[in-house]
Amino acid sequence: MRSKANIKGHPIHPILIPFPIAFLIGTLIFDILRVTTGNTSYWQTGSYLEIAGIITALIAAIPGVIDYFGTVPPESSGKKRAATHGLVNLTLVVVFAIAYTLRDDSSVGLIIALESVGTIMLFISGWLGGTLAYRNQIGVDIRYAGAGKWNEAHIADSSGLIEVAAADELKTDQMKLVHVGEKRIVLGNTGKGYVAFEDRCCHKGGSLAGGAMICGTVQCPWHGSQFDCKTGALKAGPAKDNIAVYPVQEKDGVVYISV
Ligand code: FES
Repeated sequence: MRSKANIKGHPIHPILIPFPIAFLIGTLIFDILRVTTGNTSYWQTGSYLEIAGIITALIAAIPGVIDYFGTVPPESSGKKRAATHGLVNLTLVVVFAIAYTLRDDSSVGLIIALESVGTIMLFISGWLGGTLAYRNQIGVDIRYAGAGKWNEAHIADSSGLIEVAAADELKTDQMKLVHVGEKRIVLGNTGKGYVAFEDRCCHKGGSLAGGAMICGTVQCPWHGSQFDCKTGALKAGPAKDNIAVYPVQEKDGVVYISV
């Protein structure tokens, strides 16, 4: 799913996170060097790194929060993972901040212990973030052959017949994610007409709009479940159920769905 916090399609969060990772791990390394060598200049460097790490972590959190609310599919395993990722990050920043406030030679052991805990949490958070990026494809902008650019529209909450696209807007096998109030609906052009189906894969909540649609079948990007776009029928697991579909009409060059 394309990141909501992006520059020309490139997600911002991954650009920013190397800074707090480097600064905070560097803090621990320099504080350990202070203890092992007795050189107090390492302690000063550790202090600068710690404050830089805390500030850059808070800055990196901004696009992360935007992606949490705007990009990660709701009611999905990815949403739970993203919540844990954010919570671990917040906690480790607090841990480093406490260590920073205690920075004096008398509590050096406690400071290093806190920073060690914070660094372990950094690795756990990095693991979760990696899974979100490389497995859940959060921030990945689809570019499979013929898919076209990421296409998304928001329509105020409504019911009945809703205008969702011009008839020539999508080429064959292209999709568009339409938000109708809280509902997320995928509009697709199968080449034999338009189809509309729910965006949520019933396996673990992957966004089908971020998957691939070929020959009237949509494949979930997370674990590969496949569904018939017209009927919603399950064609291949690991999902076990069908997905919901919506009636579609084309009239005078406009595509409508019934919600
Ligand atoms: S979420 Fe697992 S196949 Fe779709």
